[in-house]
Amino acid sequence: MSRIHEALKKAEEERAASQGGAQLEPTPVGAESPVMPDMASHRVPDPVAVAAMMPAFGSPFSVDTMLARCPQMEWKPDLGTMLFMNGDDSKRGTEEFRTLRSRLYHMREKMTLKKLLVTSALPKEGKSFTSSNLAQVLVRQHGRRVLLIDADLRGPRLHLMLGTTAGPGLSEYLQGKNDEFSIMQRGPLENLFFIPSGTGIEDPAELVGNGKLKTFLQRVEPLFDWIIVDSPPAIPVSDASVLAKACDGVLMVVRSNATPCDVARKAREEFPDQSLIGVVLNGTSDDAASYARYYYEAYEKRQPTTV
Ligand SMILES: Nc1ncnc2c1ncn2[C@@H]1O[C@H](COP(=O)(O)OP(=O)(O)O)[C@@H](O)[C@H]1O
Ligand SMILES: [Mg+2]
Repeated sequence: MSRIHEALKKAEEERAASQGGAQLEPTPVGAESPVMPDMASHRVPDPVAVAAMMPAFGSPFSVDTMLARCPQMEWKPDLGTMLFMNGDDSKRGTEEFRTLRSRLYHMREKMTLKKLLVTSALPKEGKSFTSSNLAQVLVRQHGRRVLLIDADLRGPRLHLMLGTTAGPGLSEYLQGKNDEFSIMQRGPLENLFFIPSGTGIEDPAELVGNGKLKTFLQRVEPLFDWIIVDSPPAIPVSDASVLAKACDGVLMVVRSNATPCDVARKAREEFPDQSLIGVVLNGTSDDAASYARYYYEAYEKRQPTTV
């Protein structure tokens, strides 16, 4: 049992004892009351679910209090490519990410969309660049809480881009070595949480496919407005399509003048129509020095739209 579970159980026991052993009345919040502490049947309260149902302040199990357990790290981001990290929101490329953000919110009006997988056909097409900047632009909106996950266990790079440690991270969690809060880093941007890949990863396919990631996402999703999952490329390995099944939608990055058409098409076939929600065309340029323009196509429209 994790330390958090133990602490929660102890707190509930003390509370029950101070109430003369009376059983706690579940707080009637929505229809999800079964996740509240149920000491009578000796169920251990799920801290994440409890936190998600509490108000932001005033409870020892509030979301803010829970997330305050996540380690605060000193990130040294690459300010050349991490577009929203230096407080200048007018850098080239930032406007396109704001447009992408509005398209996602627009899409969210029509479908369940919180857990988003970012993938592409091949390496070096801008998956990590897109997922990290997307996560940053999402938290620029007041009060939005975002979790960014490096699920590219074969070629993890997000920790390098953000200038932080590679572990403990996802692989340690998937191997049962760490609990969820100890792997979520907090950095300089308020409300942006990051799970690095982890270290010493020997069998990425087995880890990604062992089913724990899906459970993890379901557990933590009430705590966040968005969860952005950076993935390995879709063509050489199957991890991305496995990851897609745990997410609500897939955003595919295509690198302008680099991704061959047939390869992009083949990658698209890896994902059923309903999960592929859009395409980011990365690296378009008006001049040789500029390569931070994007085109975004809502997949449902089937027509390219210039941003
Ligand atoms: N639009 C862009 N503008 C600037 N740099 C970019 C852009 N897209 C990708 N890069 C850079 O190109 C390299 C490869 O991109 P990356 O996101 O790591 O690719 P992938 O995750 O698909 O392997 C990284 O150094 C990244 O910062
Ligand atoms: Mg990457």
